[in-house]
Amino acid sequence: MIYPIYLYGHPVLRKIATPISKDYPNLNQLIADMFETMYKSEDGIGLAAPQIGLSIRLFVIDLSVLADEDASFKDFKKAFINAQITERYGDSVSKDEGCLSIPGINETVTRKNGVVIKYLDENFVEHEEKYESFAARVIQHEYDHIEGHVFIDHLSPIRRQLLKSKLTNIAKGKVSCRYKFKTA
Ligand code: NI
Repeated sequence: MIYPIYLYGHPVLRKIATPISKDYPNLNQLIADMFETMYKSEDGIGLAAPQIGLSIRLFVIDLSVLADEDASFKDFKKAFINAQITERYGDSVSKDEGCLSIPGINETVTRKNGVVIKYLDENFVEHEEKYESFAARVIQHEYDHIEGHVFIDHLSPIRRQLLKSKLTNIAKGKVSCRYKFKTA
């Protein structure tokens, strides 16, 4: 099933999401649906549960489409449950980001180059892994969503002010995007 994407301005994107347990109803189906929703959208490589209206600590990332650029992404299709970033390290790196919940806006975001993340996979097996560079950026972006943040929160007040009318339009649903969406 394809879910509509909740857009900037919807309160669900501002909640700190809650952990889930193994008996969360139809979890495998939900994860499959999140990947499907992401593939049907424009250029999504990551999707967090709050973006489909569920305030739970779950996000999915698939970097395998980028395997041509980086062979280590070949099998990078993962679900992250109850994730906790325990460390951010290395240089601060600035790169452009976008978000399915904020269509039409791409802005430069500065993040740490590396992260250590603890999470459960779709089988509730615990992992603690280190990621760097692009993977670390995508993980930090999705992790923001389960903490009630979005990428534009990282911008300067002036930059945000300049985006204000665009953001107001997004919150009202005055956007053109190919996927189904939902506003508050
Ligand atoms: Ni996003």
